[in-house]
Amino acid sequence: MSITNQRILIIGGSSGMGLASAKRLVHAGADVFIAGRDVARLDAAVASLGGKATGIAADFTDRASLESLMRRIDRLDHLVLAASGAAAWGPFAQLPVETLRNALNTKLIGYWQSLQAALPILRKDGSVVFMTGAASRVAMIGTAGLAAVNGGITQMAQTLAKELAPLRVNVVSPGLVDTPAYDGLPAEAKAGMFAGAAKSLPVGRTGEPDDIAKCVEMLVSNSFATGMLLDIDGGARTPL
Ligand SMILES: NC(=O)c1ccc[n+]([C@@H]2O[C@H](COP(=O)([O-])OP(=O)(O)OC[C@H]3O[C@@H](n4cnc5c(N)ncnc54)[C@H](OP(=O)(O)O)[C@@H]3O)[C@@H](O)[C@H]2O)c1
Repeated sequence: MSITNQRILIIGGSSGMGLASAKRLVHAGADVFIAGRDVARLDAAVASLGGKATGIAADFTDRASLESLMRRIDRLDHLVLAASGAAAWGPFAQLPVETLRNALNTKLIGYWQSLQAALPILRKDGSVVFMTGAASRVAMIGTAGLAAVNGGITQMAQTLAKELAPLRVNVVSPGLVDTPAYDGLPAEAKAGMFAGAAKSLPVGRTGEPDDIAKCVEMLVSNSFATGMLLDIDGGARTPL
């Protein structure tokens, strides 16, 4: 299916895997809208896309902001949800419930209400892609919070693929990918984390944003793809 001139909104499109997806979709000729909270970041992202996308500031944790975003876009063929939420790392026994609540309130509720707000303007047989994460697919100590948030999204997507048909509903579950999400880490800690992960993976490296963008493009453009969960993680489920 050609995606030339298809209208695609990527919430979380100003950075990382969302931005890499925007690049691919713009290259394929789509009309791409990217949303995020930080206007300067959005402007820089639009500039990096050669000015061929439209940036609109919006906060996916705020229903009114989402509704205003959808009013501005007016008509959509596909929705990609790639925004990040609050982190919920740490050992289960000590992880404060408030930390988990915050993580659920941002990413899980955020994805939920983004799709709800988009439905009235989303083409009935268009598509939505949810970005989850390998923490909900691989048992890793200290990631029960991430597993709960991302696992919830994965499970709701399976149900929605049936309930909202012919809308296609798919999930991409990335492993560790080098994005600005890790900019806050001290350089040495980040390098150590990525080197350790690369060594444990059958592919011998961690992910690049475009590895994941290729999957997003496939799910958006393949009209036979629905109810799918694509693990794109360098083999994290079969570690060395
Ligand atoms: N990188 C990894 O290793 C990895 C692995 C597995 C899963 N994931 C998941 O994959 C997704 C993308 O991650 P990434 O690493 O590409 O992240 P990233 O580079 O940090 O980008 C996050 C994007 O989300 C936007 N965003 C955050 N909060 C938002 C809000 N409340 N409303 C609207 N936009 C918001 C950010 O823009 P603003 O900050 O300007 O709003 C930015 O565009 C996330 O859900 C993450 O949990 C990442």
